[in-house]
Amino acid sequence: MAITKERRSLFVSMMMVLFFLFNVHHLQVMGCPNNNDQGATNCTDQDRKLLEFPLNLEYFEAEFFLFGALGFGLDKVAPNLTMGGPSPLGAQKANLDPLTRDVILQFAWQEVGHLRAIKKTVKGFPRPQLDLSRLLIASYLIPYVGLTGYVGANPKLQCPESRKLVAGLLGVESGQDAVIRTMLYARAGHIVYPYGITVAAFTDKISNLRNKLGKAGVKDEGLIVPKVMGAEGQVNGNVLVGNELSLAYDRTPEEILRIVYGSGNESVPGGFYPKGADGEIAKSYLVTTTASEV
Ligand SMILES: *[C@@H]1O[C@H](CO)[C@@H](O)[C@H](O)[C@H]1NC(C)=O
Ligand SMILES: *[C@@H]1O[C@H](CO)[C@@H](O)[C@H](O)[C@H]1NC(C)=O
Ligand SMILES: *[C@@H]1O[C@H](CO)[C@@H](O)[C@H](O)[C@H]1NC(C)=O
Repeated sequence: MAITKERRSLFVSMMMVLFFLFNVHHLQVMGCPNNNDQGATNCTDQDRKLLEFPLNLEYFEAEFFLFGALGFGLDKVAPNLTMGGPSPLGAQKANLDPLTRDVILQFAWQEVGHLRAIKKTVKGFPRPQLDLSRLLIASYLIPYVGLTGYVGANPKLQCPESRKLVAGLLGVESGQDAVIRTMLYARAGHIVYPYGITVAAFTDKISNLRNKLGKAGVKDEGLIVPKVMGAEGQVNGNVLVGNELSLAYDRTPEEILRIVYGSGNESVPGGFYPKGADGEIAKSYLVTTTASEV
């Protein structure tokens, strides 16, 4: 039973990591690096690129949570949302306790809704090749980034409809993040099997790795931090991440790609996206890539 609990803790840890990544992606999308080039000229086209970028993350989230809760993914649940993109590699059903499974299932369906919402607004692209088997490894490489990306990107969107969509996505993703962190926080002292470290230490490692890969300073924080990093320097508990004013950190698309590729280089795909992410923003960094169309 102890082992089962530990495994649950680990799985939840991974979930948390993924959420953070996703959130970061959303944020980055909004902070499109091409903003200056194309900005003011055509808000619709610029917004389109910014809104399409997070599809990469939403596909991943949807598949991850669907497989985690149900043992199958979009191919069974909503095949036309994949637009014919390849099935994910290495996906498996997770061994979850009833409460966690219940929560993850809700998140899974929410992600399906997010895919629909984005595709109602922009054309999008097919599901990219996703590698879910690297989840565990990737969770080390990708510390929780949090909601920072949304914060940074939002002001760069031009059209009210785009901002409305992003705010709606951010709201739910933030809530998912909060739920996952709260569940982990309740188990902060549990030892994660088979790594022999606590959940809190595990989250620290993930955060440190993300900070390192993102190459943009400290934007990730674990569940328990030195008091100086806690809210107003008053507390060690860090159930939600924030800067010195308890505002969410922001990340750029480049930072997000560096993290989700696990390569520390937005031009070098890998990690969750063995063939790279899709959409114009991500593709603009895959200059040397001869990869077909994905
Ligand atoms: C803006 O983009 C839309 C859709 O891509 C296009 O139809 C329109 O012609 C563009 N407008 C300008 C001024 O470039
Ligand atoms: C998916 O395809 C089915 C069957 O063709 C269709 O009824 C449904 O509306 C489609 N859903 C979406 C989101 O396109
Ligand atoms: C990222 O990868 C590209 C392609 O391999 C390479 O040209 C570039 O120097 C790398 N950037 C860094 C900062 O290592």
